[in-house]
Amino acid sequence: MIKREAWGSRIGLILAVAGNAIGLGNFLRFPVQAADNGGGAFMIPYMISLLLLGIPLLWIEWALGRFGGARGHGTAVAVFDYLWKNPLAKYIGLLGVLIPLAVVVYYTYIESWTLLYSFFSLMGSLPSTPLTSDVKDYLQPFQQFLAEKTGQTSSGIFLTPAVETYLFFVVTLLINLYILYRGVSAGIEKVAKFAMPLIFIMAIILMVRVFTLTSPDGRNFLDGLGFLWNPDFSALTDPKVWLAAAGQVFFTLSVGFGAILTYASYIKPKDDIALNGLAGASVNEFAEVILGGSIAITASVIFFGIPATAMIASQGAFDLGFMALPAIFANIPYGQFFSFIWFLLLFFAGVTSSIALSQPAIAFLEDELGWSRQKAVAVLGVFLFISAHIPIFIKGALGEIDFWVGTLGLVVFALFEAIIFFWIFDSRKAWEELTRDNDIKIPFIFYYIMKYVAPGLLIIILLSWSIEMLPQQLQKTDAGTWAGRLFILALTVIGILLIKLAWEKRNGRTSP
Ligand code: ALA
Repeated sequence: MIKREAWGSRIGLILAVAGNAIGLGNFLRFPVQAADNGGGAFMIPYMISLLLLGIPLLWIEWALGRFGGARGHGTAVAVFDYLWKNPLAKYIGLLGVLIPLAVVVYYTYIESWTLLYSFFSLMGSLPSTPLTSDVKDYLQPFQQFLAEKTGQTSSGIFLTPAVETYLFFVVTLLINLYILYRGVSAGIEKVAKFAMPLIFIMAIILMVRVFTLTSPDGRNFLDGLGFLWNPDFSALTDPKVWLAAAGQVFFTLSVGFGAILTYASYIKPKDDIALNGLAGASVNEFAEVILGGSIAITASVIFFGIPATAMIASQGAFDLGFMALPAIFANIPYGQFFSFIWFLLLFFAGVTSSIALSQPAIAFLEDELGWSRQKAVAVLGVFLFISAHIPIFIKGALGEIDFWVGTLGLVVFALFEAIIFFWIFDSRKAWEELTRDNDIKIPFIFYYIMKYVAPGLLIIILLSWSIEMLPQQLQKTDAGTWAGRLFILALTVIGILLIKLAWEKRNGRTSP
């Protein structure tokens, strides 16, 4: 067996894990979810989901990673196979490789827009419109600009992004591949050590700027913060808000992707997971609710008011991040500079997540097929480059892939993690594995949360989704939807074939 890589230092590990979690989700997805679900109404289900689902499932994923790493494996494929003596186990574990991989295919593309927009900000080539009373008129040039650059609203089946957008995508992909090629310690960890402090510095600069903004009609940051933090208990009875909050907690913590499991597999067999996991999650939550919550929503509430912010958020994350924010920056002194750091911040946050989401595939190829890192990264690069053409050029494919993997997939995989560990393997042994060699004690109440509450809630979430969203999704039959579905199917078939190959090789080796 090839010697597995390892993290160089504890601080490097925590920064890498925080980098895994802190991403476009914190600064784009969170504000939109919060604003779209009534601000203060969203935060109560969000906090409850964090405590009952996010943190316990995060610890489970860390424990599975440490367990696998100690046996020379970094993905759920092999870990599930150890825990459950059933030939199906490894194929279920494949979800922990395919989900992050499929997300990376479109995540990297959106990440490349942030690099492109930071470049445009620097060059002063983003639109600049004077404030008008009607928000729609005001945002229109930004809407048109985004559509022209990304082709996202082209009519017909095929999208036509601008040449520079395509070039920036290629550059973004190459940056990702280079970091992965350097490896866990010399690549991922080094980048995290440099990027994480920068992300915080840029976010704090933006936050301070937003806190000193006032609108011509007298709104200031307190209006923005009030919108998010004045609790609204009516939301507790609305299932839609609960689903959105739980979905956001999964996405932001990177729980249910399989990427935490892979990162945790590079710690030493007797290293702590409880404190490391909690530290990574705390840094992420600070970046999400304090920084993420104070920049985009607050600025939008100050400039446009609450009803317009809710309207912008209901259109999605791109409208807030790529239209409303640059439109605000276009009307404040030194706006070009703030726009530049806003998009650069998004880019760094995006890169530290996309490399994490790519690593499970690399770990699989290295650990199960015995490939060198160079070979694994080269093959992954070709795969990502070719596959990205689907969301880049086919209308509707991005949304379809995101629904199956980025929304539904996370919950399904997290449920398997909890059930295989706590129900099939053995809850007593699972708890022992989870609580050994840690620097802090995980309170015993989490045993019950991990065994009963979290899986129970996940099943309720899945059932609600199946009733509310699945029928709608399945009714879609446009070309992009089919392209997205076929892509996921093809990826699954390739994954299954590679597992078969790996196990044949392994059995050939063990029984000469
Ligand atoms: N956790 C990552 C994000 O928030 C995927 O973007």
